[in-house]
Amino acid sequence: MKYGYFDETKKEYVITRPDTPAPWVNYLGSPEYGAIISNNAGGYSFAKSGANGRILRYIFNQFDEPGRYIYIRDNKSKDYWSASWQPVGKDLKTYRSECRHGTAYTKMQADYSGIHSEVRYYVPLDRAYEVWNVCIANTSAEERELTVTGYAEFTNNSNYEQDQVNLQYSQFITRTVFCGDHVRQMIHANLDQIEEGSDVDDKIVVSRFFALKGAKVTSWCGDREKFLGRYHGYGNPAGVAEGTLCNEGNENGNSCGALSTVVRLAPGEHCEFAFLVGMKEEPEVAEILASYALPEQVCGKELQQLTDYWHGKLAHFQIKTPSEEFNAMINTWNAYNCFMTFIWSRAASFVYCGLRNGYGYRDTVQDIQGVIHLAPEMAVEKIRFMLSAQVDNGGGLPLVKFTHNPGHEDTPDDASYVKETGHPAYRADDALWLFPTVYKYIAETGHLEFMDEVIPYANRGEATVYEHLKRAIDFSMNHLGKHGMPAGLYADWNDCLRLGKEGESTFVAMQLYYAMNILRKFAEYKQDKETAAYLDEKQEELGKLLQELCWNEDRFIRGFTEAGEVIGKRTDPEANMWLNPQSWAVISGLAKADQADMALERVYEKLNTPYGAILMDPPYHAHAFDGALAVIYNPGAKENAGIFSQSQGWIILAEALRGHGDRAFTYFMENAPAAQNDRAQIRVIEPYCYGQFTEGKASPNFGRSHVHWLTGTASTVMVGCVEGILGMRPDFYGLHLTPAIPHEWEEFEVNKVFRGCQLHIVVKNPGHVQSGCDRLLVNGVRMQGDYIPQEVLKKQTEIVLYMS
Ligand code: GLC
Repeated sequence: MKYGYFDETKKEYVITRPDTPAPWVNYLGSPEYGAIISNNAGGYSFAKSGANGRILRYIFNQFDEPGRYIYIRDNKSKDYWSASWQPVGKDLKTYRSECRHGTAYTKMQADYSGIHSEVRYYVPLDRAYEVWNVCIANTSAEERELTVTGYAEFTNNSNYEQDQVNLQYSQFITRTVFCGDHVRQMIHANLDQIEEGSDVDDKIVVSRFFALKGAKVTSWCGDREKFLGRYHGYGNPAGVAEGTLCNEGNENGNSCGALSTVVRLAPGEHCEFAFLVGMKEEPEVAEILASYALPEQVCGKELQQLTDYWHGKLAHFQIKTPSEEFNAMINTWNAYNCFMTFIWSRAASFVYCGLRNGYGYRDTVQDIQGVIHLAPEMAVEKIRFMLSAQVDNGGGLPLVKFTHNPGHEDTPDDASYVKETGHPAYRADDALWLFPTVYKYIAETGHLEFMDEVIPYANRGEATVYEHLKRAIDFSMNHLGKHGMPAGLYADWNDCLRLGKEGESTFVAMQLYYAMNILRKFAEYKQDKETAAYLDEKQEELGKLLQELCWNEDRFIRGFTEAGEVIGKRTDPEANMWLNPQSWAVISGLAKADQADMALERVYEKLNTPYGAILMDPPYHAHAFDGALAVIYNPGAKENAGIFSQSQGWIILAEALRGHGDRAFTYFMENAPAAQNDRAQIRVIEPYCYGQFTEGKASPNFGRSHVHWLTGTASTVMVGCVEGILGMRPDFYGLHLTPAIPHEWEEFEVNKVFRGCQLHIVVKNPGHVQSGCDRLLVNGVRMQGDYIPQEVLKKQTEIVLYMS
């Protein structure tokens, strides 16, 4: 079943059937002010932190309520509906709607009973409040009188948990008043006489506003219960049904902002106004509101600015291939998804309630990879930040607080850190993610001096980026298990593998092997012979261990338990085949060609499904060892034999590195949201963003995806596609073009900004091969092999690669 389509000219996903199988959402705003909105206007907003800055309330794990509601009532017939299909939910035979999720804005259009409405929701660029720009047109032949009401449900406390659970407290600190063009909510208003500097118990007065500009407020309400009416819901609020609001605020109950305006429209006439929401003090509120006195002169411009900003970022990398699904993902949706994970980490979605009040180390360092080719200047800021969250022993802080203070942080070795973050110990992989990320950044930009930039450690001291990376290797080398492979510690990439100080992880060993390749490149560049020699020796030892201990006939095992038992042997009754050690054997450069091909073939045979490759199989049930936490999940869910989407990016990359374009693309299509647009009822979540996992074949809901938007999948798949399938592989001195594409592709194009130059790349494949380079021409000049040295680049560079 299909609920919408991709409009790639506007870079919008258009939902034409509003009764989607789950709320399909979009992100608005910036780290200063975040807003999430579904295709039925459900969602919430927050300033800075989803945990501590929650402004609009949302009930999680429910039916997508409340939201940013606009109600329209015909005062003659007394019939009313909403500008988004829900919450009133008129019969879809008579109510037509279209929701367009764009880059940082969402547009809702509806037609019902001769009235056309359009609401554009957005957070203006670099501003910390939101706008709901409403336009209503009379498309009927009669004059109409309408009451239009906007509704915003404030939290009673900026702290999400306090608002939800501590009702004996939070309801008695909030009140609302009317200020002419807005409802003002105050939390702790009674503290207004407390002198500055003598905050009672750290509390200060917090002010929020819900305003209407461009139309006159005819009635208002600041009390949720009075607005809704007892035994009514959001679908039939008493205040809307009656046509006028009660003109009362709240005290000691639930606050809200509701504002009505009565409009009279002749046939063909339209009107425009704007509701605004924010968390600001009154003098600033007045200033902001004054600038929206004529919304029709402001909102269109602000939306254009947003589009220019986002489309400008995406323009750094645009492709034209024979696959529309691939184009839509790489040009717009996967790219935008990468920016959203980059910005929001795992803090705010309809699944993450905001309680993870910081950046997960590995997640964030991986997220950065997804935007390097689009916005390297944004990426490097975050790389600096994450390096400053590396402890001086080389490990990463498992959780980097939003309030991170480089040089002064406690570490997992301190009880205070453990208490504050809930992370009791180091994870084996965190700092190893720095290697691909830092390398990609330097290779994309040619910014080689970055290696020498001095950056503090999280707890004390400072060092160059190069030194930080060396310490990351030290961390692994100082935490080896019984066989001399890296210990699995509290977790490796897989949160559900607790291998401890003695158990060992093949995945981390492969990451370390890969890290040594990267650091060797740096050492060679810096002519640091000592480090290069050390790496040669240690890498050879590690390679031998991996070959001797971890290759099991046709696959790599997953590691060793603390007791020294093998995890992922081919004869094990459960979990005998694991995906990541196979893909990483190739990515790390460890696997020999025949090993690589055999392991990849086994993956396809044993783990692949129509929705992607399963993380491991069969699921744990009766044979889980003590550290195999995956057994807590239902079979086929999450790490227990789910199709963990993040790992799809690595299998795409691995196949592409082996030149297997058909396979790489098959894996892409199986798990690509856009490729499931016609089967949206199976996938359930949005067909334009990734989810953390898809239920595997052991689940009765095989194919259903979960945990939308904020997932490392965005970046791993992006890298798998850009570096792998499209073959854009920069190094310190230029760019390799090494595509691995489906053999049917006759030709494709890439427009890429690279080190200040605009590259127009045409790849031709008349012989229908999957990979390879027959000849490469740059501005008409033949290159050696598939390599473009930086020196030959011009501001506008025309590149033609003949694969065959
Ligand atoms: C989740 C976590 C990520 C972890 C993965 C596998 O996606 O956010 O950190 O690597 O699960 O367990």
